Amino acid sequence: MDELINQAADDLAGARHVVALTGAGISVESGIAPFRGKGGLWEKYDPMEVAHIDAFMRDPGRVWSLLVKDMKVTLDTASPNDGHKGLAKLEEMGILSTVITQNIDGLHQAAGNTDVIEFHGSFARQRCMDCNQKYDTREVDISEIPPRCRCGGILRPDAVFFGEMIPQDAMWRSQQAASDCDLMLVVGTSAVVQPAALMPVYAKQSGAKIIEINPEKTPLTLDISDYLIMGQAGEVMNRIIMQMENK
Ligand code: APR
Repeated sequence: MDELINQAADDLAGARHVVALTGAGISVESGIAPFRGKGGLWEKYDPMEVAHIDAFMRDPGRVWSLLVKDMKVTLDTASPNDGHKGLAKLEEMGILSTVITQNIDGLHQAAGNTDVIEFHGSFARQRCMDCNQKYDTREVDISEIPPRCRCGGILRPDAVFFGEMIPQDAMWRSQQAASDCDLMLVVGTSAVVQPAALMPVYAKQSGAKIIEINPEKTPLTLDISDYLIMGQAGEVMNRIIMQMENK
């Protein structure tokens, strides 16, 4: 792994415009379960039952009780780990410009990244399904499920459920960022959910180098990634930053 850490430090230092694409894996070390793989949420729940818009519309209370309530409890107190902090440090060093994240946990912003594209929306806000009023999630009272707006409407996460469109602005800006970068860091995503997983493909088509950080191989590893650094995001990011600072 040492050689690849070295290589990544050199590639980052020499890049003109770096963009990161992140997924649930980068938040695992913050105590947030991923979706797929060992300990993943989809081992426990059928995503079509708890994360599809049709399931939510059919019975919002059920989806709140099964998944959203627990998610609120976890995310209300989660804090960034060394993986998030490493990406924030790369921005501070003037190397990384944009983070495209599939995560809805707000931890990149909490770590200090200033240009974060929330591809799947955000859990930081809940919005009323009737009047569209938005609420800070931490302030939403969940003693009754589903929680309601002052107007009586049901609240839903301001995030993208399966079966919903990617917010147009996020889609557009991500495609731009992917096509403009000369290096993309792909951290902690299984790269199986579209259209997010296409971003490294767009970057590659535009000539960018693709570096993956993940303890497992993904569908990108063989054909799209230049190399995979196999490991946990926090440890790998720490080692890359340390290497860059020592040069
Ligand atoms: N560091 C880095 N990567 C990790 C770590 C870690 N500590 N732990 C696990 N991983 C990797 C796993 O090997 C896996 O490839 O993170 C990835 C997590 O994959 P998913 O759970 O599928 O997460 P993600 O790719 O973000 O999922 C995409 O699917 O259902 C949804 O909408 C949800 O945005 C999500 C989308």
